[in-house]
Amino acid sequence: MKQALATIAAAFSISLAASVSAQAMTVGFSQIGSESGWRAAETTVTKQEAQKRGVTLKFADAQQKQENQIKAIRGFIAQGVDAIFVAPVVATGWDAVLKEAKEEKIPVILLDREIEAPKDLYLTAVTSDTVHEGKVAGDFLVKDVAGKDCKVVELQGTTGSSPAINRKKGFEEAIKGHDNIKIVRSQTGDFTRTKGKEVMESFIKAEGGGKGICAVYAHNDDMAVGAIQAIKEAGLKPGTDIKVVSIDAVPDIFKAMAAGEANATVELTPNMAGPAFDALMAYLKEKKEPPKWIQTESKLYTAKDDPMKVYESKKGLGY
Ligand code: AHR
Repeated sequence: MKQALATIAAAFSISLAASVSAQAMTVGFSQIGSESGWRAAETTVTKQEAQKRGVTLKFADAQQKQENQIKAIRGFIAQGVDAIFVAPVVATGWDAVLKEAKEEKIPVILLDREIEAPKDLYLTAVTSDTVHEGKVAGDFLVKDVAGKDCKVVELQGTTGSSPAINRKKGFEEAIKGHDNIKIVRSQTGDFTRTKGKEVMESFIKAEGGGKGICAVYAHNDDMAVGAIQAIKEAGLKPGTDIKVVSIDAVPDIFKAMAAGEANATVELTPNMAGPAFDALMAYLKEKKEPPKWIQTESKLYTAKDDPMKVYESKKGLGY
């Protein structure tokens, strides 16, 4: 009897192990770094989405360097992962490493940023329409200043990154034909609070103490939060003396909005991984080709949207 039970138990554990390993999947994720609150949230959400699905996630932080991302991707290829997620820091320079992944039949999914490369080198890209985000921010300002003259200073994201290129383009499209609005200064703040503050300080200095600046357009909220600090230190009121318009919708910008120190933000969801895993599973299990672009939503928030309530709803989400 004992022997029979032992045999059944052994058979059961073998079949259980077989079914677990059939499901087990390993995905390598090359993340840019942790330059912003939004980026931190994307990392948290990606880990959660992997765990929910029983996927083993190998995580590599590139500290804002493309060379580190390329190294990490090569490492994932050598380890024989089932798929690779990459949030590409800049738009160019990916062809060679993506060809290597393709040769090994490892599907690559881009998260939150686009690249300039042949589309057959990646399975799909999960991103927002970053030109549209800039356009929404610009449209807000056009309406808000209602024909009054407005000198804008612009804090750009990381040079060469797709959101920096596209958010600039979209904003410029929105203000085109509105001659009352002019971008008078534009410089990168690298998507960080520290640089956003530093560059805003230099804009204020260069613009006679900031009195002539009507608005700051920041390509992300972290730079906007840095700029708010610089405006306050210059003795001006952010949100009133200098309007603050940005992108991401991180909790801190809603705190600023509730205090009257920020005027608008365009939401970018940190959940790029959910749709990416869904597309990947359907591709690997059912051979279902996803579209080349899986677009996430963009939503405008202003002070009218009960910012403290939005803050409360977002603060525990890993930002
Ligand atoms: O690619 C998305 C951008 O990268 C976010 O807007 C910004 O905060 C981040 O670092």
